[in-house]
Amino acid sequence: MLQVENLNKSFGSKQVLFDINFQADNGKILGLIGKNGSGKTTLFHSILKFVKYQGKITIDGHSFSSRDYNSVGYLPEERSLMPKLTVLEQVSFLASLKGMKKDEVKSDLQDWMQK
Ligand SMILES: Nc1ncnc2c1ncn2[C@@H]1O[C@H](COP(=O)(O)OP(=O)(O)OP(=O)(O)O)[C@@H](O)[C@H]1O
Ligand SMILES: [Mg+2]
Repeated sequence: MLQVENLNKSFGSKQVLFDINFQADNGKILGLIGKNGSGKTTLFHSILKFVKYQGKITIDGHSFSSRDYNSVGYLPEERSLMPKLTVLEQVSFLASLKGMKKDEVKSDLQDWMQK
């Protein structure tokens, strides 16, 4: 379960998130809607610890750790492909962040490309 308690976030003097409280139970799908600039991305960046924030965010009762990244998929809204890398290099890099070795990636790649 993801729990967000008393989350406040400011960029300089500009406060973006105001005392956010919610929980997302395991197995449930939760959508977040809001006007442009209302803070949706900032909320996700806080959950993933991409930015510093005030408040408490826990996943299954503990603070978000590097191990938890393996159970989270995050699709950024911006394109985040690296134009100077080949497809193989790109896939290898992303897979390496998940702990896969380059040789493993190479042998799996054909299969994934077919899909
Ligand atoms: N790194 C930053 N530095 C300063 N201000 C920021 C930063 N990131 C976001 N903001 C500001 O925080 C506010 C919330 O932005 P955020 O990107 O979280 O909104 P959003 O709901 O995701 O918007 P959109 O629907 O356009 O994606 C905006 O006013 C934005 O300009
Ligand atoms: Mg956004």
